[in-house]
Amino acid sequence: MIDALTDADVMRCAELERMLFPGDSPWPAEAFASEIAAPHNRYFAARTPQGELVGYAGISLLGRPGSLECEIHTIGVDPAHQGHGYGRALLSELLAVADAAHAEVFLEVRTDNEVALDLYRRNGFDVLGIRRNYYQPSGADAYTMRRRAVGAGSSDVKVASL
Ligand SMILES: CC(C)(COP(=O)(O)OP(=O)(O)OC[C@H]1O[C@@H](n2cnc3c(N)ncnc32)[C@H](O)[C@@H]1OP(=O)(O)O)[C@@H](O)C(=O)NCCC(=O)NCCS
Repeated sequence: MIDALTDADVMRCAELERMLFPGDSPWPAEAFASEIAAPHNRYFAARTPQGELVGYAGISLLGRPGSLECEIHTIGVDPAHQGHGYGRALLSELLAVADAAHAEVFLEVRTDNEVALDLYRRNGFDVLGIRRNYYQPSGADAYTMRRRAVGAGSSDVKVASL
């Protein structure tokens, strides 16, 4: 099940971050709280049928109607629950936000993250370029990826209405 990420989830998100991004400055609970509160961000939770939070994802929507741009800030799934469709479902929610606004979408991903790279490619992203030493303190490189806007040029959606 996918629904909205809330303040009640931030401790669990921070716990998952420490598992998923140990060498790349995992976000603390406070970072999740401020991300959720930011008006131009949308955050989603993936939960088991029993209600356990097993994944999270967030996207920002910036710019003006007609030239809106999205950036995927994060997406992660509990290692114990990976490979069961949660990541794909979370990404679909993020892309629905972008598509409703006819916005192109950008993200950064480690160049060695084959699973995520494949998932993004299959969902319309292409590599735009490479950012050396993007992740700290690991020093890992990132690809910047872009997915073109759907229905670009016909945007009449206001950011505040999304
Ligand atoms: C990337 C990530 C979010 C995917 O989440 P997930 O719930 O495991 O993904 P899903 O089960 O929805 O699978 C998505 C696709 O990846 C494939 N996949 C998942 N795990 C895989 C694995 N270990 N090896 C190969 N393919 C895999 C699935 O087959 C599926 O393909 P499909 O869409 O063609 O059916 C998850 O692996 C993760 O949290 N990774 C660590 C954090 C991370 O790297 N985040 C991205 C930062 S940019």
